[in-house]
Amino acid sequence: MRRTIIAGIGHYVPEHVETNDDLSQVMETSDAWIRERTGIQTRRFADKHKETPASMGAKAAELAIERAGIAKEEVDFIIFATLSPDYYFPGSGVLLQRELGLSETEIGALDIRTQCTGFIYGLTVADQFIRSGMYKNVLLVGAEKHSMGLDFTTRGRNVSVIFGDGAGAALLQATEDGQRGILASCLHSNGRYAEILSMINPGSHGGYHHEKLGLEADFGYESGRYMPIFVTEKMLSDAQLFPYMDGPAVFKFAVQKFPAAIVEVLEKAGLEPSDLDLLVPHQANLRISQFVQKKLRLRDDQVYNNIQRYGNTTAASIPIALSEAWEEGRVKEGDVVCLAAFGSGFTWGANLLRW
Ligand code: UT7
Repeated sequence: MRRTIIAGIGHYVPEHVETNDDLSQVMETSDAWIRERTGIQTRRFADKHKETPASMGAKAAELAIERAGIAKEEVDFIIFATLSPDYYFPGSGVLLQRELGLSETEIGALDIRTQCTGFIYGLTVADQFIRSGMYKNVLLVGAEKHSMGLDFTTRGRNVSVIFGDGAGAALLQATEDGQRGILASCLHSNGRYAEILSMINPGSHGGYHHEKLGLEADFGYESGRYMPIFVTEKMLSDAQLFPYMDGPAVFKFAVQKFPAAIVEVLEKAGLEPSDLDLLVPHQANLRISQFVQKKLRLRDDQVYNNIQRYGNTTAASIPIALSEAWEEGRVKEGDVVCLAAFGSGFTWGANLLRW
């Protein structure tokens, strides 16, 4: 039976370390508040002009490709997950292809927009391509440069202290081993909660969704057939060009859906939480990971967390954590590993694999 394995994994984080104390210089927050509510101690911030999701993704990808023992020219498909793309369009996938010097191969590049669940969606899509035989070496990248788009004033503190920059990558191949590979996956979403964690401007919605929901909101649009409504001065002055998050509402859903997704893939594979060698949860908030660990009665050595050092890197968080866990020898051949995520959309899901 053909299954998909992660043949190589790699990550890259920018050099600059931003501490909680650094943030408390520019907004009303404190190291104590951030640590207590999120577990985060530091995060990395990319160089504004010299690093992007595509360039950081390329560095992580080079490592994943090297560790898989193939030449980069053998990559036959790219999947790129990010919510902070280099450009509004085209997607970062083609920019990554160019960064890797693979433009002339003309391989396909698919961008995935499922935010924190991007790596899980990407891995599940890649799994279908590999098991069907359509592609042999799929490169999956999750990368974010949040630092460019956050509100670093007290107004935005509930969001801006959480997020960090970085990239992770996996090189996926087929195996006929019979034991190893992706055993089960699940993907979910519930669009009812789309705006709870969102950045709706700039966008082409023109207020449509809010009107339909009966919500009164002023998005700073200027009306008129040819008025500039995509980005306006008012959007800038009202801070509508920053992410919005109802943190407690996200927290409440996350602690329900994370364990449900993990149990779903375990059940599909006929396994129990106690069979897990390692759970690598999306690094949203250390308190969420701890809640999930307790609910599933997992030991400390069964869960990997590194949010303390990197903050929440959205689509990059699972591959960065998985790559670090692998480097530390926490993931070995034959281990049962679960990857799980929850985030904006809402979207959530999990993959269960035997390494
Ligand atoms: O990848 C998925 C994405 N997101 C998540 O998973 C986030 C899930 N949610 C969370 O992690 C938490 O809700 C947060 C960490 C975002 C916030 O923690 P909380 O315990 O839910 O705080 P809160 O939003 O209920 O705010 C409590 C207080 C408020 O002050 P008042 O109204 O009680 O006076 C906030 O204004 O904390 C204040 N606050 C802050 N204080 C210092 C909010 N952000 C900060 C801050 N520093 N950075």
